[in-house]
Amino acid sequence: MKAFVVLSTWLVLFSCNAFLSNSLDTIATNQSIRDGENLLSAGGTFELGFFSAGDPPKRYLGIWYKKIPTMTIVWVANRVAPLADASGTLRVTTRGSLVLLDGNGSDIWWLNLPIPARSPVAQLLDSGNLVVRDAEGSDPNNFLWQSFDYPTDTFLAGMKIGWNRTSGFNRYITSWKSIDDPSPGNFTFQLDPNGYPQLLLKQGSDIKFRTGSWNGLRWSGTPNLKPNPYYRYEFVLNEEEMYYHYELLNSSVISRMVMTTNGIVQRFTWIDRTQGWMLYLTGPIDQCDNYAICGAYGSCRVDNSPVCRCLKGFVPRFSQEWDILNWSNGCVRRNPLDCEKDKFVKYSGLKLPDTRSSWFNKSMNLQECEVVCMKNCSCMAYSNLDIRDGGSGCLLWFGELIDIRDYSNYGEDLYIRMAASESALLPSHQKKHKLVMGLAVPFGSVFLILVFTICVLQCKKKKMKLPEAKRDSFESGDNCENHKEDLELPLFGLSTVAIATNYFSTDNKIGEGGFGPVYRGVLRGGQEIAVKMLSRNSSQGLHEFKNEVLYVSKLQHRNLVKLLGCCIEEENLLIYEFMPNGSLDLFLFDPTQRKRLDWSTRFNIINGIARGLLYLHQDSRLRIIHRDVKASNVLLDNEMNPKISDFGLAKSFTGNETRANTNRVVGTYGYMSPEYALDGVFSTKSDVFSYGVLVLEIISGKRNRGFRHPDHDHNLLGHAWRLFTEGRSPQLLDKLVENSCSTSDALRSIHIGLLCVQRCPDDRPSMSTVVMMLGSDIELPLPKEPGFFNESNLLQENTSQSQPNEMTMTVLSAR
Ligand SMILES: *[C@@H]1O[C@H](CO)[C@@H](O)[C@H](O)[C@H]1NC(C)=O
Ligand SMILES: *[C@@H]1O[C@H](CO)[C@@H](O)[C@H](O)[C@H]1NC(C)=O
Ligand SMILES: *[C@@H]1O[C@H](CO)[C@@H](O)[C@H](O)[C@H]1NC(C)=O
Ligand SMILES: *[C@@H]1O[C@H](CO)[C@@H](O)[C@H](O)[C@H]1NC(C)=O
Ligand SMILES: *[C@@H]1O[C@H](CO)[C@@H](O)[C@H](O)[C@H]1NC(C)=O
Ligand SMILES: *[C@@H]1O[C@H](CO)[C@@H](O)[C@H](O)[C@H]1NC(C)=O
Ligand SMILES: *[C@@H]1O[C@H](CO)[C@@H](O)[C@H](O)[C@H]1NC(C)=O
Ligand SMILES: *[C@@H]1O[C@H](CO)[C@@H](O)[C@H](O)[C@H]1NC(C)=O
Repeated sequence: MKAFVVLSTWLVLFSCNAFLSNSLDTIATNQSIRDGENLLSAGGTFELGFFSAGDPPKRYLGIWYKKIPTMTIVWVANRVAPLADASGTLRVTTRGSLVLLDGNGSDIWWLNLPIPARSPVAQLLDSGNLVVRDAEGSDPNNFLWQSFDYPTDTFLAGMKIGWNRTSGFNRYITSWKSIDDPSPGNFTFQLDPNGYPQLLLKQGSDIKFRTGSWNGLRWSGTPNLKPNPYYRYEFVLNEEEMYYHYELLNSSVISRMVMTTNGIVQRFTWIDRTQGWMLYLTGPIDQCDNYAICGAYGSCRVDNSPVCRCLKGFVPRFSQEWDILNWSNGCVRRNPLDCEKDKFVKYSGLKLPDTRSSWFNKSMNLQECEVVCMKNCSCMAYSNLDIRDGGSGCLLWFGELIDIRDYSNYGEDLYIRMAASESALLPSHQKKHKLVMGLAVPFGSVFLILVFTICVLQCKKKKMKLPEAKRDSFESGDNCENHKEDLELPLFGLSTVAIATNYFSTDNKIGEGGFGPVYRGVLRGGQEIAVKMLSRNSSQGLHEFKNEVLYVSKLQHRNLVKLLGCCIEEENLLIYEFMPNGSLDLFLFDPTQRKRLDWSTRFNIINGIARGLLYLHQDSRLRIIHRDVKASNVLLDNEMNPKISDFGLAKSFTGNETRANTNRVVGTYGYMSPEYALDGVFSTKSDVFSYGVLVLEIISGKRNRGFRHPDHDHNLLGHAWRLFTEGRSPQLLDKLVENSCSTSDALRSIHIGLLCVQRCPDDRPSMSTVVMMLGSDIELPLPKEPGFFNESNLLQENTSQSQPNEMTMTVLSAR
């Protein structure tokens, strides 16, 4: 007994000691910390100490977040010189300042200070910066050395990525070799100082991704980088320095950027509520972010198929190669240049080309810029340097223009040198603008001006082709051009649609889909229509769109919304039958509207969606995976029959191919299956998962996304699963339908819903099995655990403040 008391007293003493050493943030001259002891920054945000990595485990000296439970290393001292055992010591000496010694007292890692200090001290700051100062120095902010100058794979607030131009010192981040090996991997993210600086993601010496040049607001190739509540970012370029950095706006926010081992730069923000890292931004995002994928003068647009096109006035250098989707040799001018006689043609909506061989001047304006570029025959293009306040500064490109993307809405203007004979491209542009102004004034708003102009311009072309009498009517005989043989879809005159929707008036706008606004309208004959406007102002993208229209137009099923026709030129409009009751979510998640959905209506909806999906997956000629099944994509007709809509993300698959991979994950959080959200693998079973989520939502009247329960942290799937395993499934039922409800149908639907959301795709039933299970009494297998059931909030934070709640998102799968 006595021994026990003594022992526990000793333990208390020991832990007090540990606590004491824990609370220090400084090591003084001739002092040291051993493996097992830590430095804690004054505000308690970061900790420095030893950690293990690798197999067999080795010991490293590193810095990590103290305040969060997930061990997240942000810096490593001895990346390339691990300790074999836990005998390491970090020591501050007058000779090397900071020295890491192994058990035998040999130096493993040390600093080389330019000026030796009399009494150096090492301190871990609350920013995560480990600094060495001279205790006798007068200025405590005069660091002899700081870990922020030697980042590893993590870019923290207060660090700089970039150059001291005086000394030529370059700071950049380097990936770990693998997730348990901190030694430098193949990927770096650094500021390239050539021409106008830009951030490059490199694998060895190969460029993988280019953020593009700084345009005053963001990098030209990072449209997602926007002012946000977490941090403020800035690019600094002056005589002495050029660097990118960011500051946290609120010291309680935890945000970091990391270069992953597989070559992706990701920004994460810690979410307290979910106790997890939320992926906030990522780069590269999609295929078009692959450096120079379309070669010189090629432009990449991610919703085109294939993604690469030559810029207007350019043709593939080798068309055979280009036709087999090898774009690396890019495009060449249709008409050769002739220096003095050349003109500049404006191209809009672009990620500006690689600026490594560019020249810039901050104080010149666009006119001066043009003059300078015109004078030098090897100057191929110019643009504004800064897009704020109408544009300022001058950026000139010499040599081929490479790595261009077409962003339409977020892109910039680029003026490219073209042969005088191409000047047809130029005046038409100017003519367009005059036309716009003339027509626009009566309609008053800038938005209308844009939309209406586009329409008029397109239909003008079309009118010339179409017989006069047919111009404004519903032309069932005409086919969307270029696909005459394939497409049995009526072409609408744009003026028809414009008149039907009252010139796309705001009053007629009934919603905003993931890909553009939706308008309601009435055709002259009285038929009500819904008009979906896709990707405005695009010079390309037609073929992809037409392909999409092509197969959607072939789908005919009472549970799919019917496409009546299209209007295609450079702008894309889809004309659907109008669904007076709007979408399912407007009923399901509205406390008053929900009453209108009694049980038999809900069961009918559950069945109807299942049949619609079955048709898509199996019975239609094209076999289609919808990829964005959710309540807001189910429309309701007069009799509350469900119709699946929005095939913007749908993908056709052929024959026996039932799954595919994609780098670009699109869909909606809360409905996305785990294999799709995490690995980009999609199949009909991903639709089944989304369907299962929808079924549980219909039954419970609650959203999966944002679901909260006082007893646990699970989302709706987890909640349903919990109730099911505890035999309490009836409690999932929406209180509003309990009375009208056939309990056996309801319980069966819950059971089927749970089968559909099982984590493993192979365990989920196919839609044909679902339809059969819904319509019969056959015994159902027991469901296994659902996917994503305890991550109620992990994936639901919006990546941007402006994103409406249920909007379709594009995220990158980290592969
Ligand atoms: C640290 O140790 C060295 C050598 O033992 C000694 O010369 C020096 O005065 C010490 N410095 C301090 C500040 O204690
Ligand atoms: C210390 O030295 C001995 C003999 O040179 C060696 O076997 C041992 O591995 C060393 N220990 C460490 C931790 O380096
Ligand atoms: C850049 O390097 C020079 C020379 O080493 C140094 O004097 C200067 O302080 C550095 N500038 C900054 C901002 O660190
Ligand atoms: C890094 O590059 C080397 C040599 O090019 C290669 O063997 C290795 O597989 C690469 N590692 C990764 C993680 O890509
Ligand atoms: C900082 O964030 C915390 C937690 O998110 C919040 O409570 C606080 O109001 C924020 N402070 C400021 C100044 O925005
Ligand atoms: C594309 O063409 C280039 C040059 O003609 C060739 O080097 C390259 O291997 C080709 N790429 C592919 C993927 O075939
Ligand atoms: C930039 O342009 C301004 C105005 O034209 C000129 O005064 C200045 O010398 C230029 N700077 C450089 C570096 O060419
Ligand atoms: C054109 O610009 C390039 C790149 O700046 C330069 O090397 C060349 O001398 C210039 N040519 C003339 C005629 O000014």
